Amino acid sequence: MAAPFSLIPMETIFSHRSIRRYLPDAVDDALLQKILEAGTRASNTGNMQVYSIVVTRDAALRRKLWEAHMRQDMVLEAPVVLTFCADVHRFSAWCEMNDATPDYHNFLWLYTASIDAVLAAQNVALEAEANGLGICYLGTTNYAPEEIIDILQLPRGVMPVTTLVMGYPAQTPPLTDRLPLAAVVHDETYQDYTDDTLRVLYARLESSEETKRLLALHGKQKIAQVFTDVRYASDGNRAASAACLKALVRQGFLPG
Ligand SMILES: Cc1cc2nc3c(=O)[nH]c(=O)nc-3n(C[C@H](O)[C@H](O)[C@H](O)COP(=O)(O)O)c2cc1C
Repeated sequence: MAAPFSLIPMETIFSHRSIRRYLPDAVDDALLQKILEAGTRASNTGNMQVYSIVVTRDAALRRKLWEAHMRQDMVLEAPVVLTFCADVHRFSAWCEMNDATPDYHNFLWLYTASIDAVLAAQNVALEAEANGLGICYLGTTNYAPEEIIDILQLPRGVMPVTTLVMGYPAQTPPLTDRLPLAAVVHDETYQDYTDDTLRVLYARLESSEETKRLLALHGKQKIAQVFTDVRYASDGNRAASAACLKALVRQGFLPG
């Protein structure tokens, strides 16, 4: 079934919301190419483009990725899964072909290439939304990176950094709230927070209907505890950190 292009409202940055339910409609090849081109127009370090984007549309591969992404169903539902990788492999190989001696398998270039990969991802996200598509980032990219490395056959020097699922939205969720601008913007130099300013900055979050729902659901007193004890708890954080460090050694970015 053709995607109903004309019926889909065009998104702007201010109407972004993550989409977690998708229609089965395929994303047209020409549109996907244009969106990926938009990704490559992002600023990048030294114009070296030390990143790669793996496009996964094959259903069997997406099922494998679904397992690696903690079975988030949007990986199965969305027709396109894009894995953005820090990639010093390609650039290093090109240097070696050209009598140049690369030294990019290190922490600095992991950091640099990860920034480039994320900038490309956000360009892709914005262009996709501007064309009526929905997206959602997958932080689970960093939970079991070796599984993703195996599934996508990423060589040494290539590390998955983030993932976008993409397709035509089957939902229009409400916009999520943000902290007031004053929470994240500092005037001239960093203005450290007092308990009083934190109370003001987080007041809206603490009193929202969604917070009330989450407190009841998880039996917690404070929304901060939902983050620390449920959503991003210590055990999971430490396990994912260990998995990332192991993958970074395997991919040659950190010494073994
Ligand atoms: C790096 C990153 C990782 C994310 N990982 C997930 C994820 O694994 N699953 C999910 O449902 N949403 C994920 N999200 C979406 C966020 O939950 C979402 O952006 C945030 O709640 C704000 O909502 P909005 O995007 O609708 O404005 C991720 C977002 C980012 C930027």
